Amino acid sequence: MSKYIIQGGNALEGSIPVKGAKNSVLPLLAASILTQEPILLQNCPHIADVENMMRILRELGCRTHWQGDSIFVDASDVTNGEIPSALAGELRSSIFLLGALLSRLKWAKVAYPGGCDIGMRPIDIHLRGLRELGVQIKEEAGYLLCEVASDARTADIVLDLPSVGATENLMMASVFCKGKTVLRNCAKEPEIVDLQDFLNAMGASVRGAGGSVIVIEGVDELHGTVHTPIPDRIVAGTYLIGAAMCGGNLTLERVRAEHIASLLAKLSKTACKITTGNGKINLISKGRLNSLDWIETTFYPGFPTDLQTQVLTMQTIARGTCVIVENIFETRFRPVGELRKMGADITVRDKVAVVRGVESLHAANVTAADLRGGASLVLAAMAAHGKSEVREIRHIDRGYEDMSVLLRTVGVDIQRKDE
Ligand code: UD1
Repeated sequence: MSKYIIQGGNALEGSIPVKGAKNSVLPLLAASILTQEPILLQNCPHIADVENMMRILRELGCRTHWQGDSIFVDASDVTNGEIPSALAGELRSSIFLLGALLSRLKWAKVAYPGGCDIGMRPIDIHLRGLRELGVQIKEEAGYLLCEVASDARTADIVLDLPSVGATENLMMASVFCKGKTVLRNCAKEPEIVDLQDFLNAMGASVRGAGGSVIVIEGVDELHGTVHTPIPDRIVAGTYLIGAAMCGGNLTLERVRAEHIASLLAKLSKTACKITTGNGKINLISKGRLNSLDWIETTFYPGFPTDLQTQVLTMQTIARGTCVIVENIFETRFRPVGELRKMGADITVRDKVAVVRGVESLHAANVTAADLRGGASLVLAAMAAHGKSEVREIRHIDRGYEDMSVLLRTVGVDIQRKDE
């Protein structure tokens, strides 16, 4: 069991470079199997979810390895469409492979997905969309058995919700469908635009991403390319919130401020000074923050659920009371019990949390239960008085590269212990 030991109270001073977004790299790796030619993804994070996805790609017959911070993929020998449950259980993104495998091999056998245990995470929208494209799907003993029917077709599909994963899956499933596929009520996240850019760089014809209607004109084949995924807006947001809470002067490099406009708008109301430009975000925070009144998670470009627990953690030491409404995943408030051990005053009822800011948090030994909740506990420990331990940091390793190394470079007293 690995843990972080954190002596709280230091301000954050310096700069942190941000790597490619986990939530882009994972679908881009899935899309890499759509071509026989080599793919190179640059500036990728060395994180557990990416390593797992690479392991799954190898199971399918790909050659894939790191070249420094780039990932090389050669999918010319992909013949296997079965993702073993042992690997899929580790990573929800294995479901993204469904669309790509169906395009490439016309069949797939995928175990029901695992990943962050933050609620029900159904896949009904993915499956309904695939069925509309003429995919036959049987559910058997924890596996989905899928086959592209002989009458496979394009379709005009309206997603019941703008699901990120379903939008990406259906884009990948339809790149080779002869004619025009229209996807409506699509997710508008920047990662969807990144996938469109990547597919088009491979020779696909996809347009509309970033808006609610995406149109895919089928092509015969895709070719190799070199691509740099968009920077990780959630990692960037997490460190900014850390600097806001602990005080200091932090610059993030290689970021796209417009991708976290919803967070920056909130932070600028807390007495932080924020400057953006030239791919950088600078945040200066002095003294105690003013509380935000209301935060509600929703689909992009609204406030992201992936930053909700971090911002909730920030509110625990702000001056005033904040209401937080979580509309996307029902168990996102799980770190609340651990935050209470550190002196936080939070009441939760269903999807609403009321956070009454206290003067300061105190150190405690706490345990991460999911990726973003785990990162939030690190933030709390950084701001608390005394020495805390954050345990089960394998959850944090899924999405944050070298968190302790990076935080030490900006002045945080944090050690990693692998046991
Ligand atoms: C992706 C992100 C995740 C982020 C989430 C929401 C990746 C790898 N993960 O997850 O970090 O928190 O978007 O921004 O990109 N839903 C259904 N049926 C479905 C699919 C989704 O009801 O078939 C619901 C979900 O329960 C949830 C909402 O739709 O309430 C949004 O989920 P979705 O956008 O699909 O999230 P993911 O793609 O799983």
